[in-house]
Amino acid sequence: MSSSKKLHRITLQPIGAVLEAEEGTPLRDLLFEQGVEFPCGGQGRCRGCKVRVLQGHVSVNAAQREHLSEEELAQGWRLACQSRLEDDLVIELRQWDATILVNDAAFAFTPGEGLGIAVDVGTTTVVAQLLDLEKGYVLGVKTALNPQARYGADVMSRVNYAVAEGGADRLTELIRHEVGRLIHQLFTSSQADAARLRKITLVGNTVMHHLFCGIDLEPLSHTPFEPVNDGMQVFRGSELGWNLPADPVVRFLPCLGGFVGSDLLAGIMATGMHQSDELSVLMDLGTNGEILLGNREHILCASTAAGPAFEGARISMGMRAATGAIWRVTATDHRLDVQVLGNAQPRGICGSGLVDAVAAGLELRLIRPT
Ligand code: FES
Repeated sequence: MSSSKKLHRITLQPIGAVLEAEEGTPLRDLLFEQGVEFPCGGQGRCRGCKVRVLQGHVSVNAAQREHLSEEELAQGWRLACQSRLEDDLVIELRQWDATILVNDAAFAFTPGEGLGIAVDVGTTTVVAQLLDLEKGYVLGVKTALNPQARYGADVMSRVNYAVAEGGADRLTELIRHEVGRLIHQLFTSSQADAARLRKITLVGNTVMHHLFCGIDLEPLSHTPFEPVNDGMQVFRGSELGWNLPADPVVRFLPCLGGFVGSDLLAGIMATGMHQSDELSVLMDLGTNGEILLGNREHILCASTAAGPAFEGARISMGMRAATGAIWRVTATDHRLDVQVLGNAQPRGICGSGLVDAVAAGLELRLIRPT
């Protein structure tokens, strides 16, 4: 049955993209793909999803009245997470255009048969590599934003959306679909034969593991944050909705603890710290930050939701290290100098800028110990 809802046209500035969507569509769904961030998961509390309506009408609700000033509202600022499409629009985005870093360096391996895909399911980004298991070549790398991020920037926001708001199935569907899309992109761009694909291996933190595998997150929503099912999960591609010729086996590697996932396990294997006599430290400074200390006898680990700190996400002018972020602040001749990523107009301040700003403030005695 065809939908009878009216279609509206949305023009996004300055990127010039034009979208069409049905009346009533949440702006969050439309704008996430364009780089708008939703740090508080769309709760209307953080102002992180502010966009400016240049033409057209977007209604103002109570949350927007509470968090935006009269002046901001009059200038057309709206919280995208609190708005729905009700008119043709021209919107100015605070777009996120940071590059996702990847590495296609050679790796140590035991020769196997056919092709394999390794996927790092990050809280913010997803990276997939296509590998020739016979020769050890990296045949291609594809990256994407984790589409779950529209429901919260950090793992605890995701847990909250899944448990308190009943969104677990939606988050599972989004990440499985996105990984499937990256797999197809890998074969399209490399022109490798998908029939040779033998296995797909995924790593990620414990919340990503549970959400991908469809495991209940409730035990991770309260102390003692102990997962009940954090072991390796095995699927066939077809069970995940992926249409791949050889229906390869898909493994999500086991987690190490409450918020320490198999991405760290992969780090241990890659560095060999578990075989070393010397004490060493391994840090993963991701949105979910983890740190390991140990050697062949014993390894200790701890984790925290680091993204909000490093990326400034819950600070009123905080933002990721993207174009327009103040990333360095120095004290020169009794004044503050700033450097902005991309030589653009400053839009906010990222984690390194915040640390620098405090150091410079102390140096200039603008900040004093209390
Ligand atoms: S206010 Fe919209 S995501 Fe936080």
